[in-house]
Amino acid sequence: VRRFDIRLQVIQVLNAFGVAAGATLAAGSPAAASSHPAERLADTGLYADFATRTIAPANLPFSPQYPLWTDGAAKRRWISLPKGAWIDATDPDVWVFPVGTRVWKEFSFDGQPVETRYMERLDDGEWSYATYRWAANDRGEIDASLAPWKGVKAAAASSTGVRHDLPSVYDCRSCHEGQPARILGVSALQLSPDRDPLAPHQQAPEPGSVDLADLVARGLVRGLPVELLRTPPRVPSVTPEARAAMGYLHGNCSNCHNPRGPLAELGMSLEVSARAAAALVNAGDTVLTAVGNGAHYRPSGSDSSLRIVAGDPEASLLVRRMASRDALLQMPPLGTRRVDEDALALVQYWIRNATPRTDKTSAAASLKPRKP
Ligand code: HEC
Ligand code: HEC
Repeated sequence: VRRFDIRLQVIQVLNAFGVAAGATLAAGSPAAASSHPAERLADTGLYADFATRTIAPANLPFSPQYPLWTDGAAKRRWISLPKGAWIDATDPDVWVFPVGTRVWKEFSFDGQPVETRYMERLDDGEWSYATYRWAANDRGEIDASLAPWKGVKAAAASSTGVRHDLPSVYDCRSCHEGQPARILGVSALQLSPDRDPLAPHQQAPEPGSVDLADLVARGLVRGLPVELLRTPPRVPSVTPEARAAMGYLHGNCSNCHNPRGPLAELGMSLEVSARAAAALVNAGDTVLTAVGNGAHYRPSGSDSSLRIVAGDPEASLLVRRMASRDALLQMPPLGTRRVDEDALALVQYWIRNATPRTDKTSAAASLKPRKP
């Protein structure tokens, strides 16, 4: 019964986004609004020359150290800020992007692009979301054109054998509007020069990629607390596996599971705060909301009802939900068809061997390696 209570509440929360989108629709569909994205990717400003796929030099490549798992897709990303504008990083956990910010993310399998997602901050401060599907056009040329806002199921082959879905605009919003910054991979921790060598699925950054230090040096990020400049942010942990596991959860889960978005009332944060990563606050405060604490519902067939049971991954519901692709159970709830086996193994290892303590003590003590 509880299961459906919380589901209902959550669906109401998520619908708040959908209702907003629906309102625009009633007023003549997102297509009719001035916010309507270009019909072709080539017209969004990503390329200096589309024919040769040359990226315009004003679009800076970047590479978050803890990428989102999308069934093994390879990704490239670029950001462009309007001339003279900068990102306000005064709150290191909620960066404010200037109106006119544009960001692209290209997904490919086996070297073939399948979609390029696009976000733009509009004059009214809202974000527009679109994705462009790579396919042969009427003339047989490969082009990337605006996908329907409902998305496209099974749009392309992937390297893992399952078809790849293009998300709907509702899906974009479910993931990107679960926290106030909206942009997820351009952040202090994600672009820290102190990159995590164990981060699952990390790709070597594109040549010319910008990191936190570059953005600050170019004046494109301002107001960042000086501690984060002196010591590049890093997941506080005592073992390399704990660092990578918490970083993974931050990158893949904290866009919904954080203390300030619509799901805050669940009382479970998987965010690694940039303040914690710079040792400004106690690191244990966030991820420990999952350790030793009861979940809102216990899936049938499970003896345990705890989110994370220190030392016991099998009893941890967080693991159970990462390992599932049942529509009601799976985490994340959308965006993938396959379990991320590498990340699952890492998180299981972390829970088994680096027992997180539930009393909120120092950052170092919060993840204590178990005696062999
Ligand atoms: C399952 C959650 C999820 C869905 C659905 C999703 N995104 Fe994202 N997106 C992310 C995360 C997490 C990142 C940052 C990590 C990364 O890039 O690997 C990201 C990164 C991006 C970026 C690069 C800027 C940034 O935030 O770092 C763009 C642009 C983007 N997404 C656009 C879209 C659009 C447009 C859609 C819908 C068509 C969409 N996304 C759907 C989770 C999602
Ligand atoms: C798009 C938003 C979204 C993302 C991303 C997401 N979740 Fe969730 N998660 C939810 C919602 C909504 C619920 C509450 C409803 C439910 O339990 O299914 C939830 C519930 C949970 C719960 C149960 C909490 C409780 O108290 O019962 C766990 C554990 C969980 N998520 C783990 C994860 C993990 C691990 C990831 C990343 C690998 C993740 N989630 C990514 C939306 C998300």
